[in-house]
Amino acid sequence: MSARHPLPREGGWGEGAPVILLTGKNGQVGWELQRALLPLGRIHAFGHAELDLADAGAVRRKLDEMRPDVIVNAAAYTAVDKAESEPEQAQAINAAAPTLLADEAARHGTLLIHYSTDYVYDGRKAAPYVESDPTNPLGAYGRSKLAGEAGIELSGADHLIFRACWIYAARGANFLRTILRLAAEREELRVVADQVGAPTWARLIAEATAHALKQAMRERREGCFESGVYHLAAAGETSWHGFASAIVEGRSGLRAKTVTPIATVDYPLPAARPANSRLNTDNFQHRFGLVLPDWRDGLRLCLEDIPQ
Ligand SMILES: NC(=O)c1ccc[n+]([C@@H]2O[C@H](COP(=O)([O-])OP(=O)(O)OC[C@H]3O[C@@H](n4cnc5c(N)ncnc54)[C@H](OP(=O)(O)O)[C@@H]3O)[C@@H](O)[C@H]2O)c1
Repeated sequence: MSARHPLPREGGWGEGAPVILLTGKNGQVGWELQRALLPLGRIHAFGHAELDLADAGAVRRKLDEMRPDVIVNAAAYTAVDKAESEPEQAQAINAAAPTLLADEAARHGTLLIHYSTDYVYDGRKAAPYVESDPTNPLGAYGRSKLAGEAGIELSGADHLIFRACWIYAARGANFLRTILRLAAEREELRVVADQVGAPTWARLIAEATAHALKQAMRERREGCFESGVYHLAAAGETSWHGFASAIVEGRSGLRAKTVTPIATVDYPLPAARPANSRLNTDNFQHRFGLVLPDWRDGLRLCLEDIPQ
């Protein structure tokens, strides 16, 4: 064997390639992960219709059958407001299902990558959150995501949990697409200005995950892998109003002329949101040797992906 190509051999991994099971393939992050993870192994991607995470028997059977080296869990119950009236469903998908995946991962020696959220915090801190800050979710969604983290941590499985915030994408239902639609219809938009965070393109999450996963697989082979919780978000910060203004400025031909700042109290929703969703990502950047770009860079590139 040539010393220049120790692993994989010419022709790729072949049958020996890592097997990666991806859930939530039609979600914002899952859609991008299907693409970003392609060079890392043989991807088996499942949407809700193909693998229901609420069906523990089906999940166990799929894992027994596939014996993946890695599980990337991008599926979640993400209806933040609806979760207030159906907390059991949120717990089933965001807490019980990741715990089951982690228990199975521990049993089979599988690495689990999972996503959590800024909603595990109450948003009352005056500075960006670090991973060791106390958690205190304000609503049912945040509580269910925090319970999912706890289940994974208790399982003993090798894991990485990435707490993200304010995710948007060129497809799916999200703030960016809502603003583009409303700005095409109305002259004035009224948007909350007293919640701050970093709008994060789903593609950044997926590509950063792929880098982190590559490193994690190497660390596991070398016996130096450490599990952990990391913040993963774009750099910089803005309010929803600032984000909406940047979207409107970044796209020509819209009807909206004015984006008016309003307060959270003027836009009541069933679930309370953290006023401060800023996440310090130093730990992620140091461990994985990546530079997380400013949120405006992601927005500019994502807008290029959406036809006028
Ligand atoms: N969106 C955000 O701003 C945000 C912020 C911080 C953290 N996060 C976290 O980041 C991760 C990815 O979020 P995302 O924005 O990509 O979410 P998303 O677009 O809502 O996608 C979630 C996916 O999970 C699937 N799903 C729901 N219930 C399921 C079930 N019982 N079985 C199998 N699949 C199921 C959904 O399918 P159906 O639509 O068919 O049900 C959907 O395709 C999640 O863990 C989320 O909690 C999101």
